[in-house]
Amino acid sequence: MTSATKTSPADQIIIFDTTLRDGEQSPGCSMNTDEKLEVAKALVDLGVDVIEAGFPIASPGDFEAVRKVAERFGEQATICGLARCRNEDIDRAADAVGPARRKRIHLFLATSAIHREFKLKMATEEILKRTAEMVSRAKERCEDIEFSPEDASRTELEFLAQVVETAIRHGATTVNIPDTVGYATPSHYFNVISYLKKNVPNIEQAVISAHCHNDLGLAVANSLSAVEAGARQVECTINGLGERAGNAALEEIVMALRTRQDYYKVGTKINTQKLCQASRLVSNVTGMIVQRNKAIVGQNAFAHESGIHQHGMLQNRETYEIMRPEDVGFVGQNLVLGKHSGRHAFRSRVAELGYTLDDETFQRVFDEFIILADKKKSVYDADIIAIIEHQDRNA
Ligand code: KIV
Ligand code: ZN
Repeated sequence: MTSATKTSPADQIIIFDTTLRDGEQSPGCSMNTDEKLEVAKALVDLGVDVIEAGFPIASPGDFEAVRKVAERFGEQATICGLARCRNEDIDRAADAVGPARRKRIHLFLATSAIHREFKLKMATEEILKRTAEMVSRAKERCEDIEFSPEDASRTELEFLAQVVETAIRHGATTVNIPDTVGYATPSHYFNVISYLKKNVPNIEQAVISAHCHNDLGLAVANSLSAVEAGARQVECTINGLGERAGNAALEEIVMALRTRQDYYKVGTKINTQKLCQASRLVSNVTGMIVQRNKAIVGQNAFAHESGIHQHGMLQNRETYEIMRPEDVGFVGQNLVLGKHSGRHAFRSRVAELGYTLDDETFQRVFDEFIILADKKKSVYDADIIAIIEHQDRNA
């Protein structure tokens, strides 16, 4: 089993959490200031590097929430506020993150042809000019500037490279490459990042960041592909919360990088034992239920029912387990008894429940268990105890 190893800064992936901004944009998931503060505390405990706390121009409530998060947690994490490329947005974002010692303004401007024509009604020269002006203006208020060419994955590569070069030349310290509509595939996104690395002359002066949406179910795969291509920041949310099909899930990215450290050779500062706790909190606060078979934090993520798997697990957990449940703070039973469980798993559960049965009694109890398991989806401890006690009474 691979565990996290120490890495140099070049091998550290910056975890930028946007649960409180992009995650909150998920229908029905908006949070009030107290809820945002509670989630921000969980993110700090997890050890995320950057917390995007909101979009301060969006409403007075959003402004207040970002400001309070900045006041309370601006020592432990970088607190970020989102802004369009407009003077009033930048001023609002700068005021909101102001109290934080570590602060960032995140500017975005769409660059794809479809956004230029139908949303912004701006020509490419205007986009370049606005990027230069607004990054320079934001830089006067904050040292740490992130720039996102929105819908980057559907933007002509040559133009995208020009925009990224311009943003860096005017002071952007992070360039984020959003797959805004979840259109990219892993090899496509790898090629976009690789192209920028090769064709933007000042690219080494900024951190490249991945920001992937999950419309095709590829957000995590695309983010990992970006890391392979050289991205050193990944933007993600707890439970993959976010607009439409959501954003890349923080817990999946972190555990993929950790479990396959042999392959990616990078690490994060995340305290993985707090992942399940953070997941439960975000689910409770937003009312967005986590599916049972959700990777890493779902109730079934570590549950084995098949007898062959349970037998293997009882001999050596690594036969069927690539991560230990305790490493993500998972609490609960991971051997669930059902009709696919075999004698080995059943015998071990009986022993755990404190019973020693002779072979004949064990056989009778096991036969009854199989009949019950055929009728029920899962057999609980109480059912097993009832079968055993019933045998005792009839003995
Ligand atoms: O998906 C997106 O393009 C965004 C930007 C604001 C970064 O969320
Ligand atoms: Zn987004």
